[in-house]
Amino acid sequence: MEHLLGIDVSTTAVKAVLIDAAGGLVGSASTPLALSTPRPGWSEQDPEEWWEATVTSILTLLARSGVEPESILSLGLTGQMHGAVFLDAGGEVIRPAILWNDARSAKECAEIVELVGEERLREITGNPALVGFQGPKILWLAEHEPENYSKVRHILLPKDYIRYRLSGELATDASDAAGTLLLDLAQRDWSDEILSTLAIPKEWLPDVYEGPQVTGHVSSEGARITGLTEETVIVAGAGDNAAAAIGCGVVHEGTGLLSLGTSGVIFAPTDRPRIDQSGALHAFCHAVPGAYHLMGVILSAGGSLRWARDILSSYRSETDTYDAFIEPARHIAPGAEGLFFLPYLSGERTPHMDPSARGAWIGLSLAHNRDHLIRAVLEGVAFAMRDAWERIKTLGVAPPTLRIVGGGAKSPTWREILAAVLDVPLQQLAVDEGAAFGAALLAGVGAGVYADVEGAVTSTVKVRGVQEHPVPELVEQYEKIYRKYALLYPALRRSHVWENVDLQ
Ligand code: XUL
Repeated sequence: MEHLLGIDVSTTAVKAVLIDAAGGLVGSASTPLALSTPRPGWSEQDPEEWWEATVTSILTLLARSGVEPESILSLGLTGQMHGAVFLDAGGEVIRPAILWNDARSAKECAEIVELVGEERLREITGNPALVGFQGPKILWLAEHEPENYSKVRHILLPKDYIRYRLSGELATDASDAAGTLLLDLAQRDWSDEILSTLAIPKEWLPDVYEGPQVTGHVSSEGARITGLTEETVIVAGAGDNAAAAIGCGVVHEGTGLLSLGTSGVIFAPTDRPRIDQSGALHAFCHAVPGAYHLMGVILSAGGSLRWARDILSSYRSETDTYDAFIEPARHIAPGAEGLFFLPYLSGERTPHMDPSARGAWIGLSLAHNRDHLIRAVLEGVAFAMRDAWERIKTLGVAPPTLRIVGGGAKSPTWREILAAVLDVPLQQLAVDEGAAFGAALLAGVGAGVYADVEGAVTSTVKVRGVQEHPVPELVEQYEKIYRKYALLYPALRRSHVWENVDLQ
């Protein structure tokens, strides 16, 4: 029996998933990760911890599944996008990685716009300068930690650091590279113009491959540490959202994905590069060779729920189920009796693009209890997703149904709210192993198990049928409530409440 391995370096855990050629789940193992927030608005992790967690997950998976390492033909990497891993000439990590939800580089974003020009930046990269992206983090390092910057010889995205440790190869894929602000979107390669304008040496960046392309194989050192064999080839893989989309069969224009992880994402593939001139949606390469996608990202989706659980629960155990936490909120009427929640706990991307936005419960009264607070969080995240959905509809690429994945997708209450707020049917997958599953499929294409991504998806991805149809009365109710929600951010912004938030 031949096997395929997918590894997802997410913000909360490193997950390894093993499948057979028919897409059947053979085993999975996950090792949790800690997040460091040394200052408000900062978000960092130690790449060494990603590596240790990767090794633990692979060893656990091999032991649990009992499969022969020789049967693992190939492995695909995926993970949190946008982060910056800085390596010196000897390949050593210089400082903790600066992550996708880190907001320290607002000044550098303004500088990039100034140097490249707003329109030119959008023409080349398809995107505006956002604090989450890797490019501004590089400029931040040059400005604030010149000593560290002087040592930099390689810059990698998170999953590509794991590739480096597994194989010694420096490589990335087009979907992840598109989230750096340094890629020429149409060419699917680094932009010489942007790199020279920002004085970033091209040789610091890894070569860019298409998702299913082979970038190398497990090195003897990698094999010794992980228990894998040197025979296992490694494919480029994809950023977590593109990989999750592959794992759900969301490969063509007209299909779409709603992902509820720490961040919340609405993902719509496009057959050619399409750019949102308002900048609210990201325009990135897909992990399907030559294809693209548009994506709305809210920074704290499941992250808001996790935060609410941590502060509202008398316990803090990771084993307490979200279902038990959410259940009492099921019985609160839509609109939580006038209570709103703004989920901008780490600032916001789509649609506000405002790193200094902050979260809030608005409309509290003596009538509200803990269950109202929870209901408002579920609804506030759904309204924030609706903001992204509205942009996707405006660009004419809204699919008729969305496949829903991620931890949040497991809650029937949250699914019901989302289906009504977005007014779209939601489908769940038979196997929801997230981005790691998509990465394993890309690995299968690279190893020749499937002819192409389309073939991989057709022979493996199975939906459970439409799970959640929007309930018409709820749709109507939520339409009115959403209109009120949409007034809150602009009102707070105008009142300058967040003006003094200092992220530098
Ligand atoms: C996408 C994004 C997040 C991270 C989270 O642009 O920033 O979805 O990839 O893992």
